[in-house]
Amino acid sequence: MAYQDLYAGWQSDPETFWMKAAEQIDWAAPPSQAYFDQGPAGEWFADATVNTCWNAVDRHVEAGRGDQLAIIHDSPITHSYRGLTYGELRDRVARLAGALRDKGVTKGDRVIIYMPMVPEALEAMLACARLGAIHSVVFGGFAAHELAVRIDDATPKAIIAASCGLEPGRVVHYKPLLDSAIEQATHKPDFCVIFQREQEVAKLIPGRDFDWHSFQFDTEPADCVPVEGNHPAYILYTSGTTGQPKGVIRHTAGHLVALNWTMKNIYGIDAGDVFWAASDVGWVVGHSYICYGPLIAGATTIVFEGKPVGTPDAGAFWRVIQNHKVKSFFTAPTAIRAVKRDDPDGELIKDYNLSSLQAVFLAGERADPDTIQWLESHLDLPVIDHWWQTETGWAIAANPFGIETMPVKKGSPSVAMPGYDVRILDDSGQEVPQGTLGSIAIKLPLPPGTLPTLWNAEERFRKAYLERFPGYYETGDAGYIDEDGYLYIMARTDDVINVAGHRLSTGAMEEVLSAHPAVAECAVIGIADSLKGQMPLGFLCLKKGADISDEQVCREVVTMVRDQIGPVAAFKLVCVVDRLPKTRSGKILRGTMVKIANGEDFKPPATIDDPAILDEIAEALKGLGYPRS
Ligand code: COA
Ligand code: AMP
Repeated sequence: MAYQDLYAGWQSDPETFWMKAAEQIDWAAPPSQAYFDQGPAGEWFADATVNTCWNAVDRHVEAGRGDQLAIIHDSPITHSYRGLTYGELRDRVARLAGALRDKGVTKGDRVIIYMPMVPEALEAMLACARLGAIHSVVFGGFAAHELAVRIDDATPKAIIAASCGLEPGRVVHYKPLLDSAIEQATHKPDFCVIFQREQEVAKLIPGRDFDWHSFQFDTEPADCVPVEGNHPAYILYTSGTTGQPKGVIRHTAGHLVALNWTMKNIYGIDAGDVFWAASDVGWVVGHSYICYGPLIAGATTIVFEGKPVGTPDAGAFWRVIQNHKVKSFFTAPTAIRAVKRDDPDGELIKDYNLSSLQAVFLAGERADPDTIQWLESHLDLPVIDHWWQTETGWAIAANPFGIETMPVKKGSPSVAMPGYDVRILDDSGQEVPQGTLGSIAIKLPLPPGTLPTLWNAEERFRKAYLERFPGYYETGDAGYIDEDGYLYIMARTDDVINVAGHRLSTGAMEEVLSAHPAVAECAVIGIADSLKGQMPLGFLCLKKGADISDEQVCREVVTMVRDQIGPVAAFKLVCVVDRLPKTRSGKILRGTMVKIANGEDFKPPATIDDPAILDEIAEALKGLGYPRS
C-alpha cells in the first residue's frame, strides 16, 4: 500500500490502524481497544498487559532466532569487536534482572543507568524492562550536577554505571562523577552496580557499590513481568527552557507497537537485517533505534563506540557498514558534515564495499541540502531526512522508505507519518495558509509511543505542550508545509538549541553563568556553526566594581559550564559587554543578537529600549570573530 493510501487509512480509522499494528506484538493479555481517553493527553492500549523485554529478546529466541546476532559491539577506540546472540542476550539480561530483583528492585522502581556505548548499557535497560522497573538513562557527556538533578527527580532505587567512558584520547572517569552526583543529590539510591572496564577499575564504596560480575554471580534468572500497557517503560530527561530538565515518560505498549511499525515502514527493516543508529544510548535515538526498535523487530543492532572522524579516520562509518553488512544506517547531519570536512571528495568511501546498504536516515537537526547532496552523490542511495523529538520517540515526518520512497525535497523531512496530524498555526492558534511560516502543532491525540505526560510534572506538561494551542500538542518548532504536503522545519520557538545533534538549553547555561559572583546579568544564544549546526555563545555583564579581568571571568564561566552541565555543552564562546539589548519591557533581544552574530539582515524591533546597544554587541562579537566571513 502506498503512503497516501496508508495515511488516509489511518486518518479515516485510527483505531483499526493501530489495532492492526498491535497484532505484531506478543501480548500477555491483548488490548481490547487502542485509544483510551484518559490522562492529560490520552493513552494507548491501556488495558493490555505486556512485557517489553519479552518482545525485544525472549520471543525471538522462542521463534528459533536464538543464534542470530542481537547486538554487535564495534569499538574502534578499544580496537575490539564482540557479538551477542539473542540467546546469549536473553540469558545475560535474565541473570542481571534476577540480581536486581534479589536486591529489591521491583515493578515501578526507578533505576538510573549512566553508561557509555557498551552492550551492557542495553542489557541494563532490558533487565529493568524485564522486571517492569522504569529506567532513566543519563548521557555520559553530562556532568555530576546534571546527574544529581536527575537522581533527585527520578528518585531511583539503584544506579547502574560503568567505571569509565572512552572519548578519543581521553578516559571519562564516570565513577567520581557518580560519587559526586550522589553526594550532591538529596535522594540516595539503595545501591549501585558498577561495570568495571579494563581501561579503568573504579574504587567501590563497600555496602553501596557492587561489581557488575559478582553482583550477578549465582543468581536465579528472572522471568519477564507483564505490566499494564500504560505502565512507564522509561523516563528520558531532555532540555527545556530552564535548568530543570523535562522527564519525558514513555508508556510500555504504545512504545512497542509504534517502534515495531517504524522499523518496517520507515526504515525497511525485517527480522534478521542489520540496522545501525550511530548515536548514543543517552539520547532518544539511542533508546528507540540502538536498543528497542531493532530488537523488537528481531534485527541486529550495532553499538558503536567511536566517532565519525578520528577513530581512526573519516572512513569509520563505511568500515562498519561494510564489515557488519548494515542495511539501514541512521546518523545526525553534523556527523556527515564532519566526515565531509575530513574527506571532501569521498575518497575513503571508495575503499569499502557498501552493497548491503539500502538507505541513510538523518535526524537530530535540520539536514542541510549540501550535506544530503554530498551523501547522495557519493553513495548513490536514498538519503532520508526525518524529523522527530525526544517527546515523540519516533518520526513525526519522514520519507516512508519501507512503504514507498517519495521524491526527496532537500531541506524537507518530507511528509507526516500516520498518527500525526500536523498543522501550522499563527500566534492566535489559527491555521496559516500553505507555505506560510508558523508554529508547528500536532492535533491531539498524539499517536502511540509518544509522551503521555512528564514525570512528576503534569502541570508543566500541560503548560509546555498543551496550553498555548488548545486541542494541539505544541512541538516547539516553527516551519511551514508546501503544496505537496512536505514539511519544512526552520527554527525552534523556544530557548532550546541544537549543538552537534545534541539538544541543549540556553536557559540552563544562563543559570550557570548567573551563579558566578562577578556576573550581574547574562544571555546565552545559539549561533550558526558550519560543523555543529549551532554553538552556544554567552554575553556577560559584570557587577559594578567586580575585581576580575574580562579574560579571567570568561575562563571561569567556561569551566563552570563544563563542570556543571558537561563537556557536551561545548560552551567555549563568551564575551563581556556593558549592557544587553532589551525591549522597553525588559525582554532580552536574543533573536536580534543571533542575527548579528550570523551576519543576517535584521531590523531592530520597534520596542527596543536603546538601539545603540546593538552596536556594542556587534563590536563584542567581532572580537570573537563573528560573523564569520
Ligand atoms: N561522554 C563524555 N564526553 C563526551 C561524550 C560522552 N558520551 N560525548 C561527547 N563528549 C565530549 C567530547 O569529548 C567533547 O569534549 P571536549 O570539549 O573535551 O573535546 C565535547 O563533549 C563535545 O563533544 P561533541 O559535541 O560530540 O564534539 P566533538 O568535537 O567531539 O565531535 C562530531 C564533533 C560532529 C564528530 C560529534 O559531535 C558527533 O559525532 N556528533 C553526532 C551526534 C549524534 O549522533 N547525535 C545524536 C542525535 S541523532
Ligand atoms: P531531540 O529531542 O534531542 O531529538 O531534539 C528535537 C529537536 O531537534 C526538534 O524539536 C527539532 O528542533 C530538532 N530536529 C530533530 N530532527 C530534525 C530534522 N530532521 N529537521 C529539523 N530539525 C530537527
